Amino acid sequence: MHEQNPTPNPIDLVSTWLTDADDHPLHGGVTLATVGPDGRPSARIVLLRGHDERGFVFYTNYRSRKAEELQTNPQAAMVLWWRDLKQQVRIEGRVNKVSREESEVYFASRPRGHQLGAWVSKQSRVIPDRAVLNDGLTETRRRFENRDIPCPPHWGGYRLSPDMIEFWEEGEHRLHDRLRYRRQDGEWRIERLAP
Ligand SMILES: Cc1cc2nc3c(=O)[nH]c(=O)nc-3n(C[C@H](O)[C@H](O)[C@H](O)COP(=O)(O)O)c2cc1C
Repeated sequence: MHEQNPTPNPIDLVSTWLTDADDHPLHGGVTLATVGPDGRPSARIVLLRGHDERGFVFYTNYRSRKAEELQTNPQAAMVLWWRDLKQQVRIEGRVNKVSREESEVYFASRPRGHQLGAWVSKQSRVIPDRAVLNDGLTETRRRFENRDIPCPPHWGGYRLSPDMIEFWEEGEHRLHDRLRYRRQDGEWRIERLAP
């Protein structure tokens, strides 16, 4: 990783890192940080379900805490970490919902159990006990018996469109490599940062 001869497009570089890391997956997810209306940040793990020129996609409940935060402040940050490769990618930018069609196609590809769960769980709400979930599952199973389960209106994807991507690689003596790409006027500008 060198600023003299860098990959011009950081999204291609993320793809390379994701592909190179086939044997070293992202340990199940990426960290997603959002900000509440009071300026307080919150973070959680989500699964990265796709990425291309437009950005990085994850799926969730559109009434969850993260979704409420994104509604008032559509800026978010994502962190990808490969423990074994000693690499990190930080991504920042604006978040938009993916198209309804995209969510429906992805939802249809999910195992039936996951589809049921998306209907049952009022994600991020306080519930009195686990029985609420079990009862909800029984009822939802009955409701969709012998037919396809549609994508719930309150469930779908978001796409984080990056305007900043930073690559970090462990170096000797704690002198790590950090290359930051910032999108300005449609161009990616590259800078090296001190570790
Ligand atoms: C490995 C892992 C993967 C997860 N993937 C997702 C996901 O793709 N979408 C999601 O909504 N929550 C996912 N979660 C749960 C979230 O971390 C979080 O608990 C949930 O989205 C509610 O967050 P919120 O209340 O801040 O909205 C995952 C958790 C773990 C540990």
